[in-house]
Amino acid sequence: MSDVQVRGVRYEVDRPLLADIDLVLRAGEMTALSGPSGSGKTTLLSIVGGLLEPTAGEATYDGAPTWRGTGDPRPEVAFVLQVYGLVPILSARENVSVALRARGVDPVEADEQALAALTRFHIADLADRQVEELSGGQMQRVALARGLCVGAGVLLADEPTSELDEGNRALVLGELRREAERGAVVVVATHDPAVVEACDAHHALDDGRLVDHTEPVHLAHTRFRPEPSASEAPATPPVADPVVAPAQDPAPRDDSAFRRPPAGR
Ligand SMILES: Nc1ncnc2c1ncn2[C@@H]1O[C@H](COP(=O)(O)OP(=O)(O)O)[C@@H](O)[C@H]1O
Ligand SMILES: [Mg+2]
Repeated sequence: MSDVQVRGVRYEVDRPLLADIDLVLRAGEMTALSGPSGSGKTTLLSIVGGLLEPTAGEATYDGAPTWRGTGDPRPEVAFVLQVYGLVPILSARENVSVALRARGVDPVEADEQALAALTRFHIADLADRQVEELSGGQMQRVALARGLCVGAGVLLADEPTSELDEGNRALVLGELRREAERGAVVVVATHDPAVVEACDAHHALDDGRLVDHTEPVHLAHTRFRPEPSASEAPATPPVADPVVAPAQDPAPRDDSAFRRPPAGR
């Protein structure tokens, strides 16, 4: 399995949204991407996964750019979107099954695998319910089932636990770990220190740039070590969900833990 290399990525829409992003996202590891709302997490994931074309620089996987010129991700890439991206009138099982069929899995087999994927997230009993009838947390787990069922080489999860209670968060982190263990590059954008702590590597964004998170990020009981060579540069991306994002966070979140302290502290 291959790492994802992000080199000199910049992204501008009227203004720079990401700048100077240099990162290696390693196969077999869970990498956290933290930062306050609007810091560029979703934009960076979108560039890493080939949904957005960087203004400068590139993201590569297995030696080839993830951007293919169309905004369609490569087949090795799977997303768990912050806005879920589910089809409301389809059932939970159909929403998952569609992703498998799009990758060439036979429909009957896709249906079975979809049920197995929902079972991983303890929502097999909701398989035949229309997604629009489900709660936010249930939808989030359907989106996770869909993202994780395809055996992607690169799995990009955007705030995948924002709607979940602690038990389900642990379940999801366990499933993301399984994906890393089979060799995938797993990247999790998150506000949640507990999610960061469950990861092997951590990169923090602030205002579109990578920042030193070793001191500025006040993570209690952190077991993360500084990554001396990890790119600490500016960054910039955006995607389609900033407007919707607040609805995904049931409670207001305190981003201060991810902000740099005032100079002099
Ligand atoms: N399509 C877009 N056009 C212009 N600005 C955008 C677009 N999408 C996001 N942004 C802006 O880019 C910045 C980073 O957004 P985003 O990547 O969604 O941050 P995060 O996921 O960390 O909350 C924000 O200031 C946001 O308003
Ligand atoms: Mg976001």
